[in-house]
Amino acid sequence: MTSDPETGIAGYSDETIASILRTGQAPGGGGAVKVIHPIMPYKTFSVMSDKDVQDLVAYLRTLEPISNAVPKRALNEEPPAWTPPTTPPAEAPAEPVARGEYLVTLANCAGCHTPKGDDGSPMTDMLLAGAVMPGDAGEIASNLTPDEATGIGKWTEAEIATFMLTGTLPSGEPIEGAMAQQIQRRFSKLTEDDAAAIAAYLKSIPAVSNEPKAP
Ligand code: HEC
Repeated sequence: MTSDPETGIAGYSDETIASILRTGQAPGGGGAVKVIHPIMPYKTFSVMSDKDVQDLVAYLRTLEPISNAVPKRALNEEPPAWTPPTTPPAEAPAEPVARGEYLVTLANCAGCHTPKGDDGSPMTDMLLAGAVMPGDAGEIASNLTPDEATGIGKWTEAEIATFMLTGTLPSGEPIEGAMAQQIQRRFSKLTEDDAAAIAAYLKSIPAVSNEPKAP
């Protein structure tokens, strides 16, 4: 993703990078379209605003060019083309609940906190209702819905916002494990307004009673 002329994305226009990010479609040579494998989370990024894509592209262009030829991809099957279900906004929403939803979507909180169905896709009626993490550790990504018994319904918005920035639970204890790492690496860099927006959004989603148990 650096601007190396031979092995990087120096030759891609801003529009091409935006298309790769939000639709998974890249130039395939000779005018053809290459569909990117969905392990690259373009389905998640498809909601990203035009402005945020422009800023992200501007950032990528500042990366020092590094020459690193990676092998050509070898897939058993070409991934099917995908059309985003919604048109992304020109700018990210400013109203707190909508902004929180935007941030939670892009940060892919659901990747850990929403249980997956048999086909591996997130269960839409169990949005952020807690899930067992992949791997053998049996770590549980908590139920983030406002359910009082099994979710975070008893947390105040301020407690959620503080937690997102610091990893400190309402009890005053620090969180551990995967979420601690996420906060350290990513969410501690949120602005206070964005942490508050995430809290406002989490308060607005349907309460789901669910207590995931490690198998
Ligand atoms: C890499 C996986 C992962 C991602 C991504 C992730 N979380 Fe978590 N989260 C966890 C795990 C695991 C826990 C439980 C940690 C524990 O209890 O020790 C947790 C705990 C939490 C808690 C504490 C809940 C409680 O009852 O203690 C909140 C709130 C939370 N996450 C919010 C979020 C939000 C909001 C996002 C996205 C902006 C997010 N998480 C992204 C794995 C993740």
